[in-house]
Amino acid sequence: MTHAIPAQDALLDPKDAMTEPLHYTKYLVDGKLHEWRGDMADVYSPIRTLVDGAEQPVYLGSAPDLKREQGLEALDAARKAYDFGRGDWPTMPAAERIAAMEKFIDRMVEQREIVVKLLMWEICKRKKDAVKEFTRTVEYLRDTITEYKELHREGSSIQNVEGTLAQIRRGPLGVVLCLGPYNYPLNETFCVLLPAILMGNTAVFKPAKYGVLLITPLLEAFRDCFPPGVVNIVFGRGRELAAPIMQTGQVDVLALIGNSKSSNALISQHPKPNRVRQVLGLEAKNPAIILPDADLDLAVKECVKGAWSYNGQRCTALKVIYVHKYVRREFLEKFAAATDALSVGLPFRDAVITPLPERGKVEAMQAYVTEAVEKGAEVVNAKGGETAGAIFFPAILFPTSRDTAIFREEQFGPVCPVIEFEDLEEVMADIAESDYGQQASVFSQDPSAMGPVIDQLVNQVCRVNLNASCQRGPDALPFTGRKDSAVATLSVRAALRSFSIRTLVACGEGRKNTLEGVVSGRHSTFSSMDYLL
Ligand code: G3H
Repeated sequence: MTHAIPAQDALLDPKDAMTEPLHYTKYLVDGKLHEWRGDMADVYSPIRTLVDGAEQPVYLGSAPDLKREQGLEALDAARKAYDFGRGDWPTMPAAERIAAMEKFIDRMVEQREIVVKLLMWEICKRKKDAVKEFTRTVEYLRDTITEYKELHREGSSIQNVEGTLAQIRRGPLGVVLCLGPYNYPLNETFCVLLPAILMGNTAVFKPAKYGVLLITPLLEAFRDCFPPGVVNIVFGRGRELAAPIMQTGQVDVLALIGNSKSSNALISQHPKPNRVRQVLGLEAKNPAIILPDADLDLAVKECVKGAWSYNGQRCTALKVIYVHKYVRREFLEKFAAATDALSVGLPFRDAVITPLPERGKVEAMQAYVTEAVEKGAEVVNAKGGETAGAIFFPAILFPTSRDTAIFREEQFGPVCPVIEFEDLEEVMADIAESDYGQQASVFSQDPSAMGPVIDQLVNQVCRVNLNASCQRGPDALPFTGRKDSAVATLSVRAALRSFSIRTLVACGEGRKNTLEGVVSGRHSTFSSMDYLL
């Protein structure tokens, strides 16, 4: 496999070219874009190009490598803006927070082209998916506003419960530390950060290790649309920034999309971990289960999509496939052929298989394959495991021993173990023992076979996909997981709930005069009957 394509030559649209490196020297704290004069972190693309006949990663630019002190300044700014819930932002009328967010979305849309371009160059997301990540995020944020209005309307009422008059609203929690993943560096961070802000919280946001530059075109919009300190954005390493922030004990919510090792390590830094609300989207090992009466062409199509979209770097990817022994041979033949037919290349031309952004990832994939092969597996597709630069062609392993890392761990990349089963109990026992519990896919054309499998899976995972691969969307649906796969639920509506707490104002019905006076005199933002349309 060859990949040393001069990167700019692979472009379809000249607008996708990186004409010069992007050196971003600022960070956002307390409403100001501070100029950073300290260490910078270089950013390289996973794409390699030929320089004087030698392959080299394309240099994309640099971003600040901030230190502990800047992280703590960001935290202070967020605390000041929250001010124990008495700051301007958490006490502001909902309509004003909505207006700020609407302004932000409009400004964000203006940066679409550059963000999409950087999604391709920094993390090699193919163009179609990069565009989708951007538009999906914008839609999510617009839908969030609609849901927030609905939540607010629900709170604009007073109930009489056994003689107690109560007005219940959802209120903010405090300061949110928001950390995102590299695979959806825009979508998954903004879909927690902005709902959190809209609910009246304030935040410190640190972008992921990869996919940093693509956030930088949005810093001015954050500065201009939200009051000082509401959103603070720092660049650098988690150990240097996030850990000291947690150690202060002043973080109220940890919003992290990543893995449980990082979230556990951070929570353990907090002196009072019980005080931290955790909103976590973590690792998964979603299985596909192919029953003997499955439509195999459909199962293959969905497994190709499920296992290999964005090179398997999705928490929702299919990461282990169980196939019934009666159809195993035919399934594997078709799955191998369909996998080998996938296009490979750079993201600009919409190749399905693209370079992997994480350093050492190709070697990590090779190690999974080597161990599985030593323990009896074969790579069943002809192109499986071929490499070129940071590209690793998807490898299907069969038969896979349960005594392998690829069976136990989340591979988050283009290797997929296949396991044959005869009795569904074997599959269910594995799922019960697994550390993960996000989703599963079941393939069958027989409703009487499907029904019992659904009933066994629904108490092990949080979404069972019938004759379809696993996925998060549509974003209005609850997205969560059991065990080490998630804490809290995300969806357009659920995110607003996750970043808030029910709070009520109550009085006995015999003493309602004061409350009536507060409402009718418009003396309180919380105790108001304003109805947002
Ligand atoms: O990485 C995990 C993402 O939430 C998956 O989302 O199923 O839309 O690719 P997706």
